[in-house]
Amino acid sequence: MNRDDLTLAVIGGGKMGAALAEALVASGRVALHRLTITVRHPASLEAYRVKGIRALPAAENATAAREAAVLILAVHPDETVDALDQLRPSLREDHLLISIVTGVSTARLEGMAGMPLPVIRANPNIAVLVAESATVLCGGRFATEAHLALARSLFLTAGLVEVLDERHMNASTGLGGCGPAFIFKILEAMAEGGVKMGLPRDVSQRISAQVLKGAAELVLRTGRHPASLKDEVTTPGGCTIDGIAKLQERGISIALIDAVETSTRKAGALWGDG
Ligand SMILES: NC(=O)c1ccc[n+]([C@@H]2O[C@H](COP(=O)([O-])OP(=O)(O)OC[C@H]3O[C@@H](n4cnc5c(N)ncnc54)[C@H](OP(=O)(O)O)[C@@H]3O)[C@@H](O)[C@H]2O)c1
Repeated sequence: MNRDDLTLAVIGGGKMGAALAEALVASGRVALHRLTITVRHPASLEAYRVKGIRALPAAENATAAREAAVLILAVHPDETVDALDQLRPSLREDHLLISIVTGVSTARLEGMAGMPLPVIRANPNIAVLVAESATVLCGGRFATEAHLALARSLFLTAGLVEVLDERHMNASTGLGGCGPAFIFKILEAMAEGGVKMGLPRDVSQRISAQVLKGAAELVLRTGRHPASLKDEVTTPGGCTIDGIAKLQERGISIALIDAVETSTRKAGALWGDG
């Protein structure tokens, strides 16, 4: 489907739903007049309408679905049953349902749909806002390669996309979904280090963020192992190795590994979909 014939309904226009819709429209992948967003509260509806975006209340989820080919489900896990109940009267086997709901399996979504509905789970992160998400996709029982290709093309407008088996979805939440928050903690702490050493706070924050971006770009563009890049910039007897020794002494590696593991286990426990 090209831009001219892709009709999209975002069911749940909160932080992620809005960011995804914006990325798709900004990239030209979805035309604004073919986009509908649904939300629960009147204030959320009004916020879209003043921007000229077609928005409907959750009670009209079925209307939004009837008019769309692709549905992006972006509600909270505990709102999923209600949303599927509202959508069900209009669901068709030629719909593609893309769910970004954390921890809810494709099998559970197919069961709630009550028909052989093509379902794809997607795990984006908040960097969708700047088209730098790391999104993991997996297909359900009725999703074809063509459905995955379509979903991939949509999420590519918002950053990197990996397609994996569904058993990896909780780990992709623990790493890719929760990862930005871990990095914000690291950035906050690095900037504080600069402040402690006398740098102005705004400068320190910008330098920290650019350092992270530059290091990440080096890994992505070269495909090299981070340890080899680290070795290259660590002069024997220099100042970097002292800082690295301090990071190791304070347990940075195990803290980050534990954080990803803990968030992965929590993602699996939200609905018990493992
Ligand atoms: N935030 C992240 O970084 C992130 C990353 C990956 C995945 N996720 C997942 O994405 C989902 C959404 O997260 P979020 O952070 O965007 O949450 P959010 O900002 O709270 O947005 C949820 C939205 O769903 C709407 N809603 C609730 N029930 C609805 C229904 N029955 N029909 C239509 N709309 C309904 C709400 O409407 P109102 O605005 O009117 O309340 C709200 O706009 C969650 O499952 C989350 O786990 C989030």
